[in-house]
Amino acid sequence: MKTPKPWMKTPRIALRQFTRADAGDIAYLDSDPRVMRYINGGKPSTPAEVAATMSRVGRNYWLYPGLGTWRAELRDNGAFIGWFSLKYIPRTPDIEVGYRLVHEAWGRGLATEGASALVRYGFETLELERIIGITHAGNRASQNVLMKVGLVPNGWAHYYDQRVRLYVGTRKPA
Ligand SMILES: CC(C)(COP(=O)(O)OP(=O)(O)OC[C@H]1O[C@@H](n2cnc3c(N)ncnc32)[C@H](O)[C@@H]1OP(=O)(O)O)[C@@H](O)C(=O)NCCC(=O)NCCS
Repeated sequence: MKTPKPWMKTPRIALRQFTRADAGDIAYLDSDPRVMRYINGGKPSTPAEVAATMSRVGRNYWLYPGLGTWRAELRDNGAFIGWFSLKYIPRTPDIEVGYRLVHEAWGRGLATEGASALVRYGFETLELERIIGITHAGNRASQNVLMKVGLVPNGWAHYYDQRVRLYVGTRKPA
């Protein structure tokens, strides 16, 4: 399968669409209990869950052009570092920014760099009015990322069958 061309670049990160050939990256990312701690209590994704993710991500590129979940690698050495997304929360009108990084990549400002590029793209290119972010109440790192990219704490909300902290960004008038 041909590797898709980079879709967006930030100073350190290259983002591109996922293909089915990338299932091993997702399996690796989701196999680390530290990564999955605030997502599902630390359980690695099963092969069936990884396959479902790959299908959903692939389908959403054509269902929702311009939105998606993009594979992230370091520009300097090509290392896989995880993914960033700007996508509808299923069965809601809400578009969320999201990210999941391999543990080796944490603590270097990479989540902030990638998420801030997607939020800017959402407001400036897609002209979205509102982008949200949600986190587990204990996920301070993710909450800090959302605030650093300009989203504002907005209390509690209910998404993905969970009670979560909500962060909201609104487009500034031009
Ligand atoms: C959340 C996650 C993406 C953060 O990635 P990261 O690249 O380490 O984040 P950054 O380096 O951009 O850090 C953002 C801010 O959070 C702070 N931070 C990082 N880890 C933290 C922690 N464990 N507790 C508190 N603050 C933390 C950083 O210091 C930084 O703030 P600063 O610049 O003022 O120092 C990463 O930990 C991850 O992938 N976790 C697993 C998946 C996940 O939880 N995704 C989010 C689901 S809502």
